[in-house]
Amino acid sequence: MKKQYYFLTIVFLLFMYGLSSCTYDNVVEPAPPSPTDTISFSQQIEPIFNTGNNCTSCHTTGVQAPDLTTGNAYTSIMNMNLVNIASPETSLIYWHADPANTSSHTWKKYTPTQAALVLLWIQQGAKDN
Ligand code: HEC
Repeated sequence: MKKQYYFLTIVFLLFMYGLSSCTYDNVVEPAPPSPTDTISFSQQIEPIFNTGNNCTSCHTTGVQAPDLTTGNAYTSIMNMNLVNIASPETSLIYWHADPANTSSHTWKKYTPTQAALVLLWIQQGAKDN
């Protein structure tokens, strides 16, 4: 009986060690935008596409449309009709990479803050600002 308790204790400790060793890098997610902030496409949206090759690892000139590289992203998004001002949530540039949408583009999503920025930019008229 005693041996069994030892065994169970060791199993339990190994289990707890396994759980605790499974740490995540502390990625600091910036605070979501306030609805009254004016979102700038060149300052806040384009960097989401290209920082860390987030989207531009695939969506680059001549590879995968839309072309989300700096300087080309706005024209590409507009030419492909990826923005729907009348119904911002259905805009494909938002919808595909919205982390809440698990039915599409599952390999790459915006962070929640990035999604909020993109949606707010569309709600403000998707300007080339
Ligand atoms: C690993 C490669 C890869 C990455 C990274 C990637 N995508 Fe895509 N994306 C694709 C492929 C492949 C397609 C076409 C197939 C599809 O629509 O599922 C696509 C399609 C899209 C479409 C749809 C275009 C249309 O015609 O409807 C949008 C919008 C899009 N991606 C946005 C993004 C955004 C925003 C990011 C970054 C958050 C991103 N993608 C990152 C590969 C990628």
